[in-house]
Order: sequence, then C-alpha cells, then structure tokens
Amino acid sequence: MIFEHFSSGGCQSYLVGCADSCAAALLDPEIALVDRYLAFAARDGLRIHYLIDTHTHADHFSATQQLSRKLGVPVVMHRSSPAPFVDLRVDDGEMLVVGKLRLQVLHTPGHTRDSMCLRVEDRVFTGDTLLIGATGRTDLPSGDPEALHDSLFNHLLRLEPTLNVHPAHEYKGRPHTTIALELASNPRLQVRERAAFAEMMRSLNLSMPTHVTEALRTNMSGGKTVAQMLAEAAENVPFMSLAELQTRIEAGGDALIVLDVREREAYEAGHIPGARLLPRGQLELRVNQDLPDPTRRIVVCCEFGRISTLATATLRQMGFQRAVALDGGIKAWREAGYALTS
Ligand SMILES: [Fe+2]
Repeated sequence: MIFEHFSSGGCQSYLVGCADSCAAALLDPEIALVDRYLAFAARDGLRIHYLIDTHTHADHFSATQQLSRKLGVPVVMHRSSPAPFVDLRVDDGEMLVVGKLRLQVLHTPGHTRDSMCLRVEDRVFTGDTLLIGATGRTDLPSGDPEALHDSLFNHLLRLEPTLNVHPAHEYKGRPHTTIALELASNPRLQVRERAAFAEMMRSLNLSMPTHVTEALRTNMSGGKTVAQMLAEAAENVPFMSLAELQTRIEAGGDALIVLDVREREAYEAGHIPGARLLPRGQLELRVNQDLPDPTRRIVVCCEFGRISTLATATLRQMGFQRAVALDGGIKAWREAGYALTS
C-alpha cells in the first residue's frame, strides 16, 4: 500500500494507493492543499479514483467537490450526508475497491450523523469519531453523544486492537495510534458507561471552531469559500505593484486610469492622486457612463487589495481587457509612504 499523510493546521488528510494498480483514494482533502495532493499523486504514479469525506466538516473547507470537477472522479460520503454534490453514497458494511485495496465502510455517527470510518488493511481512518487521546466533539450540528458512545464501544473499538488509527485531526504532530493504545490511555474512553459518557461529552464546553459558519455553508452546499472566490478572481487578472504604479503616476500623462472601488467616505479621506471613484457596489451599473473606453488601461485599487481583485475580474469579464489589480491596497500604499490626496 502507498500511503501519504498531509497535515494542515491540525486537519489531517490521507492518500492511499494500491502499488500494483496505481489506483488511489484521497480522504478528507482540504482546499488549501489541492496542488500538493495532485503533486504527490503524480510523484507516486497514482491515479485518484475516489474523493472521500469521512463526514461533513465544520472546521475546514473540503476540497472533494473542487477535485471532483478537476479529475472527473466521484465524491464519496455516507448516505446521510446533506451535501448535494455527493456522487457515491455509501453505508455501513460496504466497500470501495481501489485496485487491490478494499476500503471498508463503518458508519459511526456521533460526531456528526454522517460520520464514517474507513478500514483498509492494517489501519483505520477514523475521521473525527476517534482522535489520539480524544474523540470528536458532539456539540456541532447533527452531533449526538449517545450515538458516539454506540459507534465507539459497539463498533469501532471492537476492531482488532492492533489496528493503526489515523484520525482526521491531530494537533500535536503524533502520526498515529492504535485501537489498543486508545482503549488503554484515551481519557474519554475510560468513561465507558453510556449515560456518563454522554454527560461528559455534553459538559465539554468547547469553543466554536473558527470559520464554522463558512465551513458548514460550503461543505454542505458545495458553494465557494471567500478565499476560493478571491483565488479564482486572482487567477484571471494581472497585478501591478505599488512601486510600478507610483512610477507611472510620477511620469504623468493619462496612459492609465486609477480606479478606486471603495466607498465615497473612504475615498474622500485620502486616495491615490488622480484616482477616480467608482464603488464596487455600483461597478456593473455605472461602467458604461464612467468608463466609456474599454481599451483604456485601468488600475483598480481598494483598501486591502481583495475587493479590487474581484472588481478587476468583473471588469475583465465585461470586456475591459486592460484592467489590472493593484498588488496591495490603499493601506499598503499609505504605509509605504506614497502620497494620498483628499
Ligand atoms: Fe469534524
């Protein structure tokens, strides 16, 4: 078996492949690592056949849908997943065939209703059902402490004690554990009585993960994250540096239009000399009167350099083929000591 492990801010994802056939599956991919997964699969000579989410993640942005579009392979989740983009819904007792590997599905609700573990050869990918020295939390949408108790003690922990456990989260850099080690030393697993276990889980009082709303929105709907929207816009526009713009302003002439897409109040408080105001919210409706010549070179700026990227992408879509985003915003311009007028 070919095995690669990826870590990103405590979120763990895994690539498992069959050395004979070069078929592979990717588990719990995260959006920030898309290029890395594809690079590793290529380096190892693997073709990914399945993109698997062990459950609906509330704390990271799943890359299954994006990779599915790119690779033309199915997104796999438990049949109770709410995500509309799941292509292959699986259930307890079923298997995915990946070359000579058999990925066995265990439905283990509790952390979420759609949580599952995947067992392959000498290891089990436990998602957030079982972590090293902990369990997944049960206080997020569709979490259920009693169900988690059943999934752990009546299902997962009854597998062979020697199985290696690879969780979807690990914050201390430990690579893996085993069923036996967790049974012996995981503090939460020492509370074996169902009601006491549920009571312990209910009283954990954990803080909400960052980006929980955005993660649930995008992972459950297949919608895009803010970072994705920005990255897609940035892929389709060129940028100009602050220093380059400063040089060109100093050179004078009207070779380029500086377009400030902030609100009027911010513009009036200080803008790049010569910049025109066209707030982002009015862009599409006002371009015809404000920017009659689509062949002009337009450098778009905003406070932080993000809204200007989106606005530049919009202008390019509308036919302003020389629209360019400022690399950095007015904040960076100000901090660099360049002049502003009000
Ligand atoms: Fe989770």
